Amino acid sequence: MGVFASVNGTLVPAEQARVSVLDNGFTFGDAVYETLRTYRGRPFHLDRHLERLRASADRLGFAPPFGDDVFARRLDELLARAGNDESYIRIILSRGEGDISYRFDRVKGPTLVMVVKPFEPPPERDCVEGIPVVIASVRRNHPRALDPAIKSNNLLNNILAVREGQARGATETILLNDLGEVAEGASSNVFVVKGGRVSTPPLAAGILSGITRRLVLDLCRDLGIPAGEETLRVADLLAADEVFITSTTKEAAPVAAIDGKPVGSGKPGPVHKRILQAYREYARSVSR
Ligand code: PDD
Repeated sequence: MGVFASVNGTLVPAEQARVSVLDNGFTFGDAVYETLRTYRGRPFHLDRHLERLRASADRLGFAPPFGDDVFARRLDELLARAGNDESYIRIILSRGEGDISYRFDRVKGPTLVMVVKPFEPPPERDCVEGIPVVIASVRRNHPRALDPAIKSNNLLNNILAVREGQARGATETILLNDLGEVAEGASSNVFVVKGGRVSTPPLAAGILSGITRRLVLDLCRDLGIPAGEETLRVADLLAADEVFITSTTKEAAPVAAIDGKPVGSGKPGPVHKRILQAYREYARSVSR
């Protein structure tokens, strides 16, 4: 069991892994990333994560150095070396090693780092009791400034929100967009259930196109639960029967309270329960 890294193909224990101090990922945050986890030891939806990694990098004008098959092989080697029951996987792709300037022609790259560590599931209590969330005072990056659809290492907007949320005792922090509409969690997407219908903000709200979000919308269709994208306001969250957040690491976590006010009964609801159960069954049934 352990934390292992691969830096441009060199596989070492994470504490021995090194990236140049001149790397643009370090000097400029000029990098993109993906977070994955394994189920039954296999990376879950590596295909979709690599597709999003490519799309993020493309927006910044660089690209992964090889195709999905090589990613899969290298990741398999790394997972085998780490030998964890279940792993958390972080893939980071930076533009590469520069010279602390905006001279992109001088950058030697890209730099590809993969790190795996034992996966720590969120406490089961979160699912039984629901989690407290707060609405951040800081707004989500405006898409015309830094599009949240780009999953970049520039996470300062998220860090400002999370620091505020943690100071207020929240497990997750929800950000509104510039218009005051619900955007997304600092590291999750947001769903509401009202009168049996499941809604989540549209991508046009300025959010990450979450892989779990897409899977949940598809699962709702399979389960016969009406679901779709809808512009949501804080009042919709507060008036909802149920609220839950989704992410690779949190799956679907029920929200018990928002800014200290209980959601619905203040306990996880039946729609969330059905969706989480279906999600877990699905995740365990697919390997890659
Ligand atoms: N976070 N929105 C934001 C801002 C995120 O950072 C994430 C994921 C999501 C959910 O996306 P997905 O379902 O594809 O995991 C939404 C990951 C877990 C992270 O930052 O580590």
